[in-house]
Amino acid sequence: MTSDTKTPPEPRPAISRMQPYEWEPPSAAIAQQAGVPEDQVVRFDTNTFPWPGASLGRLSPEPLNEYPDTSYRGLTDAIARYTGVSPDRITVGAGADEVLDLIAKAYIDDSARAVISRPTYPMFTVLTEMAGGSIDAVPALDLRLDRQAFVDGARSARVTWLSNPNNPTGELLPFDYVETLARATAGILVLDEAYYEMSGITGLPLIDRMPNVVVVRTLSKAFGLAGARVGYALAGPAISAALRRVRPPGSISVVSASLAVQSLADLTGMQDRVERIKTERRRLQQELARLSLEVRESSANFLLIRAGRQLAPVLLRSGLVVRTFPASSQLADFIRVTVRLPQENDRLIAALQAAMTPAG
Ligand SMILES: Cc1ncc(COP(=O)(O)O)c(C=O)c1O
Repeated sequence: MTSDTKTPPEPRPAISRMQPYEWEPPSAAIAQQAGVPEDQVVRFDTNTFPWPGASLGRLSPEPLNEYPDTSYRGLTDAIARYTGVSPDRITVGAGADEVLDLIAKAYIDDSARAVISRPTYPMFTVLTEMAGGSIDAVPALDLRLDRQAFVDGARSARVTWLSNPNNPTGELLPFDYVETLARATAGILVLDEAYYEMSGITGLPLIDRMPNVVVVRTLSKAFGLAGARVGYALAGPAISAALRRVRPPGSISVVSASLAVQSLADLTGMQDRVERIKTERRRLQQELARLSLEVRESSANFLLIRAGRQLAPVLLRSGLVVRTFPASSQLADFIRVTVRLPQENDRLIAALQAAMTPAG
C-alpha cells in the first residue's frame, strides 16, 4: 500500500506561534532513568495533596452507558453549599484549567491584550496565546508582584489573570489590593484561587458587586482530587452566562462528578488535610533554612527555594522530582517543591543535604 503524500493544513497561526505548556517527565520515565522502582518516585512538582479526598469504593453505582447530566446539578449544588454562592453563578469544568480555557474562549480574540505578573501560572499565557491574544507581562520586583505597575497594566487589559496565592512564588495579595484591581480594570479580572483552602483569603465577595470578576477554584488541591479533574468558576450573571455558552456539555465524567460531591461533603477531612500540610510546611521551611537555603514565604502548599541549577538533576537521580524553571527566567536559580508526607519530605531534606555536602 502506498502512503498518501498530502500534507495537512497548517494549524492556526496563533497555535504555531505559542509556547506550549511543559511538564517535568512522567514518573515511569524518571524511575527508569534513576534506576528506582516507580513507587519510589515522589512528585514534588505538581502541588497536589498527598491524600485522596474521596474513594471509588464508596461511590454508588452509576449508569456508565449514559452521558452525565449536562447541568451537573448534584455537583453544582455541592459547590453552592461549600461556597455559599447560588448555583446559577457556578460554572463547572474539567479542572480549573478547563475553566480558565472557557474564560479565554469567551473573552480573548486576536485583538485582546491580557496582563499577567511574571512569574505566574504558565497556563495564563498558553491559553491567551492559543486564543490569539497577546500577553503583557509585568515583571515582579524581588519576586513580589509590582502592585502599582500591575494595576496600571490591568486598566485597559481585556483580561487580567491573577493567581492568588501565586503559583510559583506562594505570594498572597490582600483583599483590599484585589478590590483595587477589580475597580481599576475595564476588562475581566480572573482570580485563580487554586490554593484558597491553604490561604483563607478570597476575592469571592467581589462577585456580588463587580460584574467583571470571576473566581476560579479547583478540587485538585486541598480536596485531594487532581486525578478526577474538577474545577469551577464563581461569577456574576453576565460572566456565568458567557462561560456556559462555551462550556462543553460533558467534560466531567459521572465518576469524577460523584467523587467531587463525596469530597465536598467532608469539609472536616479537607480542613484536617490543610492543617497537616501547614504544619509540614513550617517544618520543611525550618529544615531548609537549617541547610542555609533561601526559602520564600508561602501561603500555598509549596515552597520556592533558591537552590541553584545543579540540585534538581541530583534529586532526580534519587527519584525526587521538583519543579524547575527555564534558564532564561527570573526563577532560573530556584526550584519549587510541594509539601508532601513527613517521610517524603524527610527524603527530600536528606537528598538535599547529601547533594550539598562536599564528598570527602
Ligand atoms: C494557579 C493554578 N491554577 C490552576 C491549576 C490547575 O488546576 P486543575 O488541576 O484544577 O486544572 C493549578 C495547578 O497546579 C494552579 O497552580
